[in-house]
Amino acid sequence: MAAATIRFLQAPSRSDWIDQALANLDVILLDHSHCERKAAGVAISLMSRYPANELLVRELTAIAQEELEHFAQVNRVLADRGVALEGLSPPPYGKLLSAAVRKGEPDRLLDSLLVAALIEARSHERLGLLADHCPDAQLAKLYRGLMASEARHYGAYWLLATAEFSREVVQGRLEELAAIEAAILAEPYGEVRIHS
Ligand SMILES: [Fe+2]
Ligand SMILES: [Fe+2]
Repeated sequence: MAAATIRFLQAPSRSDWIDQALANLDVILLDHSHCERKAAGVAISLMSRYPANELLVRELTAIAQEELEHFAQVNRVLADRGVALEGLSPPPYGKLLSAAVRKGEPDRLLDSLLVAALIEARSHERLGLLADHCPDAQLAKLYRGLMASEARHYGAYWLLATAEFSREVVQGRLEELAAIEAAILAEPYGEVRIHS
């Protein structure tokens, strides 16, 4: 799938990313495991911050459960390949995006939902690249399945934002945050990661 067709993202991945990823598949799988666990954590921490928002709690419960299933799926692949589940230095992506979240409410809620949506959208794009280019048919199938879930997740975060804020406000802020997201990824990180 062409990156340009993915809603939300302002720039497709650098053309060298997929080659680096395919040359370091075990690292990408290990980082992917960390990403799935962190995605579940993001959903749970948002629920904890807004425990009375019923729509948000319902949607994020489903996302957290799915992310943990993905986590288990990726961990099974790691185990099959004999790759130990160990720590990996994260790229600056998550930290830099979090820094763009405004501190006061209700801006904090909007920004948190949109940053989560952007991370899901980028995961969708990157897993799509892996699905299209990975020579291992079984792994390509795994990526194909997971990328579809990430697409649903960015849609869910977008819907949660539009349930609380006007479409105009959501769209305007999304464009600002998407520009920041694209700028972060324009700077290559020394190590290959899902979000490098
Ligand atoms: Fe996931
Ligand atoms: Fe996701």
